[in-house]
Amino acid sequence: MNIILLGPPGAGKGTQAQRLVERHGMRQLSTGDMLRAAVKAGTPVGLQAKAVMERGELVSDAIVSALIGEELDSMGPDAGAIFDGYPRTEAQAASLDDILAQRGRKLDHVIELAVDEDALVERITGRYTCAQCGKGYHDTFEQPKQLGVCDKCGSTEFKRRPDDNEETVRTRMAEYRAKTAPILPVYEARGIVARVNGMAEMDHVTAAIEKIIAG
Ligand code: AP5
Repeated sequence: MNIILLGPPGAGKGTQAQRLVERHGMRQLSTGDMLRAAVKAGTPVGLQAKAVMERGELVSDAIVSALIGEELDSMGPDAGAIFDGYPRTEAQAASLDDILAQRGRKLDHVIELAVDEDALVERITGRYTCAQCGKGYHDTFEQPKQLGVCDKCGSTEFKRRPDDNEETVRTRMAEYRAKTAPILPVYEARGIVARVNGMAEMDHVTAAIEKIIAG
């Protein structure tokens, strides 16, 4: 199965993708995570992407589509894919069609997480992850069971993203409205879009997604 999780920054794409990975053994293909890894490693792609990401703007279509193709090639042909944060422009949506067709895959669902943008700034600025295993947490909505200790791996080190400040978040949201939201009608015309209330509690969002996947 190949699924796109679509929604503005902070809609819960990463949170829900991690849950699908745990439950169904699917692979999360997050272009944001791939780019952050490239920045950390100081690769040519990372050097190009760093300043763009810090401003909250979009990295070039060619770079992210190449990353997605490489990631798909590293997976078994039957492994399910969750596209998290990709595609983000009409050009990327067209590239994804080609990338999937070349690999004998087809898109099953585009799941839109519908959210209230005003609430997203709080979600994003309160977010942090385990520095060791990457599990996501939130100052208000999802703290570890024992404060300061990761539920998943026991690490006591956590980190926050440099682009998770209010000013950059506002730019990321404007980019979403201008460049990403217009790709929805393309998928709507194919009858594969399902809308989920992303403002509901995390478990309810997960249940709604599970229902869509189960058909
Ligand atoms: P990326 O890493 O993709 O960031 P994003 O799209 O801005 O999305 P986020 O990761 O911020 O949000 P999310 O929807 O995953 O929310 P999360 O689950 O964490 O991209 C970063 C940058 O990389 C871009 O700005 C761009 O520069 C570049 N980039 C990436 N892909 C690109 C592409 N394809 N093309 C060009 N450039 C690209 O949830 C947020 C918080 O809310 C968490 O703390 C969570 O615990 C909490 N939360 C989640 N769900 C709920 C809920 N239901 N109730 C309460 N709290 C919740």
